[in-house]
Amino acid sequence: MSREWWRDAVVYQIYPRSFQDSNGDGIGDLEGIIQRLDYLNDGTEQSLGIDALWFSPTFPSPMTDFGYDVSDYCGVDPAFGTLETMDRLIAECHKRGIKVLLDWVPNHSSDQHPWFIESRSSRDNPKRDWYYWRPAKPDGSLPNNWRGSFGGPAWTLDETTGEYYLHSFLREQPDLNWRNPEVERAMHDVLRFWFERGIDGFRIDVMGGIVKEPNLADNPPNPDWTPDGPRVSRQLWVNNRNYPDVYPAVKRIRKVFDEYEARVAVGEVFGTSQEVADYYGSDEEPGLHLAFNFQFIHEHEPVHTPWEAETLRRIVHNAEATLPPGAQPCYALANHDRSRFISRNNEDGHGAARARAATVMLLALRNTPFLYYGEEIGMEDVDVPEERLQDPARFRTTGRDPERTPMQWDQSPGRGFSTVEPWLPYGRVDRNVQDASAQSDSLLALTRRAIWLRKSTPVLCEGAYREIDAPAGVFAFERFAGPETATVVVNTSGAAVVVPLRRPGSVILSTIAAEEGTRCESSVTVGPFGAAVVL
Ligand code: NOJ
Repeated sequence: MSREWWRDAVVYQIYPRSFQDSNGDGIGDLEGIIQRLDYLNDGTEQSLGIDALWFSPTFPSPMTDFGYDVSDYCGVDPAFGTLETMDRLIAECHKRGIKVLLDWVPNHSSDQHPWFIESRSSRDNPKRDWYYWRPAKPDGSLPNNWRGSFGGPAWTLDETTGEYYLHSFLREQPDLNWRNPEVERAMHDVLRFWFERGIDGFRIDVMGGIVKEPNLADNPPNPDWTPDGPRVSRQLWVNNRNYPDVYPAVKRIRKVFDEYEARVAVGEVFGTSQEVADYYGSDEEPGLHLAFNFQFIHEHEPVHTPWEAETLRRIVHNAEATLPPGAQPCYALANHDRSRFISRNNEDGHGAARARAATVMLLALRNTPFLYYGEEIGMEDVDVPEERLQDPARFRTTGRDPERTPMQWDQSPGRGFSTVEPWLPYGRVDRNVQDASAQSDSLLALTRRAIWLRKSTPVLCEGAYREIDAPAGVFAFERFAGPETATVVVNTSGAAVVVPLRRPGSVILSTIAAEEGTRCESSVTVGPFGAAVVL
């Protein structure tokens, strides 16, 4: 069997509202993405060189959760374009060898989806059972104690029929009942619809939530929760997250992917290393091709992971030790739900330096790396004034707007993004593609070098992983295949370090461009917050 394309791919996440506005409404769109494809990969090392794109949801939606509330799974929201634009976008990507992943949202629809409108209309509607409807308990309390991920109870009373419906997120996002075979069939058909149009795969939203405990039993309290203790959830989400019945449902989803050639399923999953590993299934009964490991962002939700060598080593060690044979990790340093990398790691002002080392690490690890748009130019969280906040999910005080602001293409007032006031304000002007492209030592230049190096260095794609001894403050590992061994050194300390090498080589990638090409016999020196790859 030939090696699957996604094992060697670098995937770039686009938040479509924020990439490029082509029609002057302040909102990014699909035509805008087409205009910017050459930046992403024009086949030369002048471009970023990514292999696949994932678009956050592009389907018709009331946009209460900015597309994660879908009202038609088989269309394109008019704010982004039409099905015809999507077809053209797919064709333009494929022309450049770029694969396309859409964002499938199976756990819930919008409350404006025709299925839910029917379901809520009467207790005996044929679609009633497509969602979870329950009466209040005899004492008048809610059907169970589940909480929504954005806070508040997961149940809302619907006046029409006097029953509650379940929503794991906003009340505008009712949960679909995956135990109903008609729902499962309809959602599988959505995948087929897009596969027929040429989509190469899906990022799957809230993968671990689609099948719940059959009786929707209460979640037990979290013994680690105390009023003044660490920020952990008050209950253990054992009956509505990674419930054992979810795994067979994932395997049935996989079968739909396997009806088509070379498609990929990437699940948004949360949990222990073992729970994440279980999503991959086995050779006999495969599950997801890839399951996100978010631990570089938050090892223990919701606290951000510190940029610290021992923590990084442990995260990779756990993933490598737990994944089944043949399974490949999939890491991300940022996404549309969390603070941007620099902002999370900038308390002492060294966030930008850490971002460079993190880029080298991510692209040198054994994994399918996911890059979030704008990280490559060092975009930071933007301080969005109260009156311009858009995200209704305020589980962080500001919601998620700060990390969703428009891509910055140049220094102009509209940043090359739009000609009118954008839907969210711009960030600091010195972070833009045009300036970064002109500087040989920019983060963008480093990211390009790292991506193209990975492409041309098989051991960085296919090599196995092993950790090696290193001084305190340093995370070091080797990638090896046959006679080739690459050594990767990530220095999270603020002082230069000398790291012994098990084999000599040359620096093929460094956070300091001028150091590339340096010959190393028995050790490599890496500067403060720096990183290097020796081969
Ligand atoms: C996870 C998505 O990444 C997030 O943006 C969304 O709000 C929730 N799932 C609900 O769909």
